[in-house]
Amino acid sequence: MQFNRLIVLAGAFVAAGCAAAASTTNVRPPLAATLTTGAKTGAPVPLRFDPTAKVIISSAANLPPASFLPSQADRGHQVYENTCGTCHQPGQLVGQGFVEAWNDRRVYDFYALVRSTMPLDNPGGMKEQEYLDVVAYLLQANHHTPPSRDSLKADTASLRSTKISVRFP
Ligand code: HEC
Repeated sequence: MQFNRLIVLAGAFVAAGCAAAASTTNVRPPLAATLTTGAKTGAPVPLRFDPTAKVIISSAANLPPASFLPSQADRGHQVYENTCGTCHQPGQLVGQGFVEAWNDRRVYDFYALVRSTMPLDNPGGMKEQEYLDVVAYLLQANHHTPPSRDSLKADTASLRSTKISVRFP
């Protein structure tokens, strides 16, 4: 079980958030900041991270693209509309910003980021399957390269050994 890695990762975010407050160097700009009006964002949460955090910058260009099924992405679309949509506009996480930030990264890195920070008002609070499905949806929406042989699974080894392969436009 690799859960302690996730905790390490979450810790890295907190530490990086403090570092980011002191200095604005090495800070990746957020993907898109147009939240829906009335979004409950609560206290500011440091999502910016130190790009030296290994789990995030791992370049994974030679890995094979992750596989998910269109039906899984459809379920993820529902999760996005029902849960993420209270704060994120439709399409907010689709396009150039996403592609620049995530193409050729390990799918695990994105999954771990979303799982440990989102929904902002309940981080980690969704079912594991819902996280996987919403990740599949975001990959599909960003024109992830096939194959679609199998669903995205909560199998850390396979999430780490496959990459996000998205493009824009
Ligand atoms: C309660 C409000 C809220 C909800 C619900 C929410 N988010 Fe967010 N999310 C935010 C805020 C605020 C940010 C930071 C905006 C920014 O600076 O780009 C953010 C940023 C993100 C980012 C970008 C992080 C980065 O790399 O900079 C991703 C990806 C994301 N959210 C995914 C999701 C997904 C997927 C869901 C649904 C499971 C979700 N969010 C639900 C408020 C929310």
